[in-house]
Amino acid sequence: MTQDELKQQVAIAAIEYVKGESIIGVGTGSTVNFFIDLLADFKNDIDAAVSSSIATTERLKKIGIRVIELSEVDRIGVYVDGADEVNPQKKMIKGGGGALTREKIVAAVSDKFVCIVDDSKCVDVMGKFPLPIEVIPMARSYVARELVKMGGQPIWRQDYITDNRCEIIDIHNMNIMEPMTLEKEINNIPGVVTVGLFALRDADVVLVGKGSEVITY
Ligand code: A5P
Repeated sequence: MTQDELKQQVAIAAIEYVKGESIIGVGTGSTVNFFIDLLADFKNDIDAAVSSSIATTERLKKIGIRVIELSEVDRIGVYVDGADEVNPQKKMIKGGGGALTREKIVAAVSDKFVCIVDDSKCVDVMGKFPLPIEVIPMARSYVARELVKMGGQPIWRQDYITDNRCEIIDIHNMNIMEPMTLEKEINNIPGVVTVGLFALRDADVVLVGKGSEVITY
């Protein structure tokens, strides 16, 4: 199977989790795009979606799904999103596509987080994929120096501005042995908006496309 076929397969499996939900959260990225395309057939069953990025909002609207602001709801039944890496404890690195802040907010409000990935994203120890950190632009160099002290190699994602008008630093070559501790430590650096570690609010269900099957854990 190609990687796209694996993504399509987990997207189909994720549809089962949104059945019966009136408000759903929708993540960002190439895997979720397959899921959004499938949602077209269920648009009459869903009242509305809360989106995690401008790109996802546009895609949802194109297929006729109503997109509402997060402040219009106090809970979301289920949130479906991809990941850049996921470990056996369902902790993730996210933000390769730059939408980490809104993704983390929508995940926080959701009762259930369903993570959909192909098996290339499954790791025992996270950190091979550079860890994205969204920062307030004026704090970029300061945050980068603090990250060096923590043992990382920060690289500025040049010419990239997030949906929140902020910038991104990617930390390379970090073995993430204690994701929850690291998430808190990086969150504490002044100027950090969001770290792309999803360890404190991790996934509830992970669907992995592997060969011709979908593994659930
Ligand atoms: C977007 O910012 C990311 O968190 C994505 O959810 C993640 O990078 C997975 O994207 P793909 O499905 O494109 O690999």
